[in-house]
Amino acid sequence: MTTEALTAPPDPRTVDLTDPRTFHDVDPHALWRAFREQSPVHWHPPTGGTPGFWVVSRYEDAVAVYRDNKRFTSEKGNVLATLLQGGDSAAGKMLAVTDGPRHRAIRNLMLKSFAPRVLQPVVDGVHRHTRDLVARALRAGDVDFAADVADHVPIHTMGDLMAIPEADRPQLVEWNTRTLSRHDSDDSELESLLARNEILMYLGGLAAQRRENPGDDVISVLATATVDGAPLTEDEIVLNCYSLILGGDESTRMSLVGGLIALAENPEQWRRLKAGEVTVDSATEEILRWTTPAMHFGRRALTDVPLRDQVIKAGDVVTLWNTSANFDEAVFTDPHAFDVGRSPNKHVVFGHGPHFCLGAFLGRVHVSAMVEALRDQVATVALRGPAQRLYSNFVHGYSGLPVALTAEPAPKAPEAPEAPEEA
Ligand code: HEM
Repeated sequence: MTTEALTAPPDPRTVDLTDPRTFHDVDPHALWRAFREQSPVHWHPPTGGTPGFWVVSRYEDAVAVYRDNKRFTSEKGNVLATLLQGGDSAAGKMLAVTDGPRHRAIRNLMLKSFAPRVLQPVVDGVHRHTRDLVARALRAGDVDFAADVADHVPIHTMGDLMAIPEADRPQLVEWNTRTLSRHDSDDSELESLLARNEILMYLGGLAAQRRENPGDDVISVLATATVDGAPLTEDEIVLNCYSLILGGDESTRMSLVGGLIALAENPEQWRRLKAGEVTVDSATEEILRWTTPAMHFGRRALTDVPLRDQVIKAGDVVTLWNTSANFDEAVFTDPHAFDVGRSPNKHVVFGHGPHFCLGAFLGRVHVSAMVEALRDQVATVALRGPAQRLYSNFVHGYSGLPVALTAEPAPKAPEAPEAPEEA
């Protein structure tokens, strides 16, 4: 979210949420307030050959659907694009689009690699890497905070988790950006599909190597694991490794970039952070809420489900707008204020229920490492031009952010004791 000026409230009946341009053209706060107030469970009509779908914008309703994997499935897709196409080719294999016992079995396997104790070396790496990148940015003074700082952090974490060779990591970032979001309307869907295939082929190669020669990384864990006595399929291994890059890289980068914008645009909040009036943890939670990088997720109804004054019919697509739920006046006091001391702050940035983000701990680690590095190393932040907004109705964030950073003065060295006078 940015603090764009408020305009006339949009009319939910005329808003096209399938078109990424919609999110460029309106003030998001006004848009979602209109949905929550006028039509909280809203039927979005078919557009340009795609079917209609439900738009759930209130926090309470979004949480209820997230929680309910009996009446709502993820196996027909979990984002608008795949849900409207009728399904996801990874269904039943990749965690986010698998339900039931198979979901639980694979999730439990992967959770072993995500326990905070196991992750400690990765966490230490995030902090070290973040401090170094911020120090380098400070030496340069004027930087693109997205390209020069944020883009370099999470991919290394995913790389460490999967033991991906250093030299291959920039290529992965590039493929992943092309897969998830577009910088302008001219880029084609085909390009995004090709990039996804490149990632899958690359991971397939690594999985084959690790099966022969396992280490203690996530790829090796999946490549050598068994469920009910049988090994995972090639697709399950590759797609679940891919889901770590898919889920972990871009959304994390977006929260880092959006967090810096929020701190720069709200000097009083920056001052509170610098003065130690708020904890790094509470600033982290507010940055996550404020940036909400995954704008929506979705489900398909398996049965008729009444919700408020509507009935969602079996087979209907339902979208849950985190970007609205996290600003719901019924849950958050003064939701459109960026308040680094906000408490409580029970946002749904990482979803809710059985599919709650597997990488939430790591996502938080990245943001808090950045908040800490900015607080300790940076004296001033000045935005140096417009941020370059991603072209997407799924990922909210910026791919370019020119800024000027100045450093905190180095701590004074203790004075040297005077040399004793010669006798
Ligand atoms: C699931 C958001 C970071 C891996 C989810 C979901 C959300 C989300 C909302 C729920 C999807 C659904 O209900 O359909 C985010 C955000 C992040 C982040 C905003 C960063 C700020 C990460 C990281 C990783 C990761 C760092 C991996 C290292 C996953 C996976 C799932 C998931 C594997 C599927 C879990 C399941 O279906 O059981 N994420 N995520 N995410 N996320 Fe994240």
